[in-house]
Amino acid sequence: MKIAVIGATGNLGGAVAAEASARGHDVTALGSKDVNAADPASLRDAVAGHDAVVAALKGADHLVPRAAEALLSALPEAGVDRLLFVGGGGSLTGPDGQRFVDGPNFPAAYLETARDQTAALDLLRAAETPVRWTYVSPPPMYLVPGEKTGTYRVEARDTPLLGADGESRVSVGDYASAIVDALESGNFARERVTVAY
Ligand SMILES: NC(=O)c1ccc[n+]([C@@H]2O[C@H](COP(=O)([O-])OP(=O)(O)OC[C@H]3O[C@@H](n4cnc5c(N)ncnc54)[C@H](OP(=O)(O)O)[C@@H]3O)[C@@H](O)[C@H]2O)c1
Repeated sequence: MKIAVIGATGNLGGAVAAEASARGHDVTALGSKDVNAADPASLRDAVAGHDAVVAALKGADHLVPRAAEALLSALPEAGVDRLLFVGGGGSLTGPDGQRFVDGPNFPAAYLETARDQTAALDLLRAAETPVRWTYVSPPPMYLVPGEKTGTYRVEARDTPLLGADGESRVSVGDYASAIVDALESGNFARERVTVAY
């Protein structure tokens, strides 16, 4: 597949670009010098001719939800109908039914990014769009540095996938691998999924 990765200069986008390249896909790696993810015209020009787009963004002034909106506008114009959105885990809900981001113990350092990510998910879910988006939530706390093991679970759900120890965790390598799996399979269109062991 010909895949545009927006945010490929970053941590998670870089991991997705590396995994997709390792599997033989034709990857266009884009950073903020190549495209403005908040600008539909810039996005349209950057992604035209690709089979799919991966967005792995972080930035000031609510970049993430602004980019979600811009992508929903730009992709149909560019003739691209598949979007994998690197999401947040804060929008998953705990046993009390509350989103982690709204709970009293959510780390202050991640609050703004997590709120932005939650807004992006809500925007995608509310959109009437031809774009087959998939929003991929890592575990709320433990997306940890590490290589691909190739063994992980992916499910469309709003609660974290828990391991035997009651925690949800996954390595960056396996998270990136799950994203490329979804691109290859076409599964999980218009769904939020989460990945964990
Ligand atoms: N447990 C969790 O919930 C969890 C954990 C980790 C990450 N995340 C989420 O994953 C997302 C990505 O995180 P990350 O750590 O990979 O971020 P990162 O390393 O900071 O990378 C951000 C990327 O966004 C690009 N970018 C910034 N502004 C842009 C713009 N206007 N147009 C185009 N590209 C732009 C940057 O490009 P340049 O470098 O070229 O400026 C960079 O490639 C975040 O939104 C974060 O919320 C969630």
